[in-house]
Amino acid sequence: MDKVVIYPGSFDPITYGHINIIERALKIFRKVIVAVSYSQSGKKPFFSMEERVGIIKEIFRRERRVVVEPFKGLLVDYVKSRNVDTVLRGLRTVADFEFELQMSLANKKMSGNIETVFMMTEDRYSFLSSSIIKDILSLGGRADELVPDVVIRRFSDRLKERKTDIVSWE
Ligand code: PNS
Repeated sequence: MDKVVIYPGSFDPITYGHINIIERALKIFRKVIVAVSYSQSGKKPFFSMEERVGIIKEIFRRERRVVVEPFKGLLVDYVKSRNVDTVLRGLRTVADFEFELQMSLANKKMSGNIETVFMMTEDRYSFLSSSIIKDILSLGGRADELVPDVVIRRFSDRLKERKTDIVSWE
């Protein structure tokens, strides 16, 4: 298909669940633009924008059909600025449905030309979220089947830096 899709999210951090959606989308779309959002409903992200974008770029460094970009403000404005009309979101369980429906209807209301398409997350990743990853890693658990090595390495670097920061403040 000669179509480009935008896959937006916070990706704080990207997980194998997201990666699986991107890989499957590449079978349907010519190009996938992974759009990393600054805003996260008032929450401060663990990883900076540069880190989130850098991690995804590193993971897809050999896939030229994946482009990674940060975006600020409304998703519909960003999508229009890229001359794209299709947004992709993953759906894990029914729990996601309500928020996703609300978001796609709000986007449709603001811009009638933009369609949101949904892809069901593979069942082996249906429990997975960026928050669960941050919990597991910050408490010393193993996450090597849930996120790529680069995420684990960067997370541990960040934690060490923060611990050093705390010690130097004491
Ligand atoms: O990975 P997430 O946190 O579920 O992604 C949510 C995201 C970034 C796609 C959503 O919050 C978003 O589109 N933010 C941009 C602001 C916006 O357009 N809000 C109105 C639509 S609800």
